[in-house]
Amino acid sequence: MKSYSVKELLTKQPIGESVEVNGWVKTFRSNRFVALNDGSTIHNLQCVVDFENFDEELLKQISTGAALKVTGTLVESQGRGQSVEIQATDVFVHGTADPETYPIQPKKHSLEFLREKAHLRVRTNTFSAVMRVRSALAFAVHQYFQQNGFYYMHPPIITGSDAEGAGEMFRVSTLDPQNTPLTEDGAVDYSQDFFGKETNLTVSGQLEAETYAMGLGKVYTFGPTFRAENSNTSRHLAEFWMIEPEMAFYDLDANMDLAEDFIQSILKYVLENCKDDLEFLEKRLLDEEKSKPQNERSEMALIEKLKFIVDNNFKRVSYTEAIDILRNSKPNKKKKFQFPINEWGADLQSEHERYLVEKHFKCPVILFDYPANIKAFYMRLNEDGKTVRAMDVLFPGIGEIVGGSQREERLEVLQQKIKALDIDEKELWWYLDLRRFGTAVHSGFGLGFERMVQFATGMGNIRDVIPYPRFPQNAEF
Ligand code: 4AD
Ligand code: MG
Repeated sequence: MKSYSVKELLTKQPIGESVEVNGWVKTFRSNRFVALNDGSTIHNLQCVVDFENFDEELLKQISTGAALKVTGTLVESQGRGQSVEIQATDVFVHGTADPETYPIQPKKHSLEFLREKAHLRVRTNTFSAVMRVRSALAFAVHQYFQQNGFYYMHPPIITGSDAEGAGEMFRVSTLDPQNTPLTEDGAVDYSQDFFGKETNLTVSGQLEAETYAMGLGKVYTFGPTFRAENSNTSRHLAEFWMIEPEMAFYDLDANMDLAEDFIQSILKYVLENCKDDLEFLEKRLLDEEKSKPQNERSEMALIEKLKFIVDNNFKRVSYTEAIDILRNSKPNKKKKFQFPINEWGADLQSEHERYLVEKHFKCPVILFDYPANIKAFYMRLNEDGKTVRAMDVLFPGIGEIVGGSQREERLEVLQQKIKALDIDEKELWWYLDLRRFGTAVHSGFGLGFERMVQFATGMGNIRDVIPYPRFPQNAEF
């Protein structure tokens, strides 16, 4: 007998065939109808079981969460709500789920509650939909780059360098914390550590990706990155996945073109391939919005919002123009910003980014040419001597989703920068070598994968778009 997934049965509909399907009970009603789901689709398969024809013990074992194998004939459904159903001839119980203790019952659970049950939450409609979209987005990322001449490159996860220079790194060490070896002047003696030097988990694979772009031409990374920043926000994780393309011979304009095309392409893939899940997530959001005051409801439903991004150009605005807009904006004049914008040079906060995107331009914005002193050391200095060829892509509801730049390819300028920032040049000898041997214009950017999943699914909190979120004071599972 042929075994099918729920998705196959619902799409292929082999009516009249004897079939077998495995899954978990979502709901069980009238002692007769079992809604079965196996994770292959948001939709359930209705199984009609005439329990009087079975051992009476069976009925007691059927409840939400139980794992079953159902065998029977696929027939056109008599009832409303589904087109086909299984008339069961045999039911095998893989495992029961005691309703007294199984936490995922067929009712609405809060996202906070489910976060504490992260090992079971993927059995809910919301999380299964989010995780299918996440998987599709990851595939779309690889497809986009592979079809456009990029090579997938794996930067190291344990590293001796701090790419972003923000000092927010998790140390990797095998030294005995009870008995740390010290040097003569009392500092930790890392020469006795596993790698013979101080090492950390990477915050970004960019610097190593640059070395590969200068040989393979166009590369991308897609892997986990780690930041020990104490940010308890709905946009920050201590462990998140980042996609970092890096391209030789690309200037900032080409970099911006790529970022825009890439983002549009992966969202288009999700629109085309995750219809059912997006419809479910859209409906979920609309229900959620009903409890919000009118002025806080979003103007576009989820699918419309994704289509808007795919179909419209991003607005490109220099930092200097943005500061003018912000300085003269209503919330700034009425002192509504938590961080008022008074002068050129101010770092932009999430409230400013969202004002530009959501209120002023009403579309995604790429800000470029930021002040040098609020950006990382590797960005290319402009002729004005005070701005760098940086770019951030800002998204509605999210704020910064991409950060990138054209890289400083001139040895002396880079050396000066490194010196001014008090970074140890010796640590970056290999990075500087790129500027010594066959240096060239090159650029790249980093996309925060979870922020993109958040946008595509409409989930408000980044902790709900990764299976096991890592954030301050939490590393359960
Ligand atoms: O702007 P960031 O710090 O840029 C870099 O790391 C560069 N090395 C990228 C490059 O040019 N290759 O981070 C890039 C993106 C941000 O725009 C944001 O989407 C995401 O990574 N991000 C985070 N996502 C979740 N949690 C955090 N703590 C994040 N920090 C950054
Ligand atoms: Mg950034």
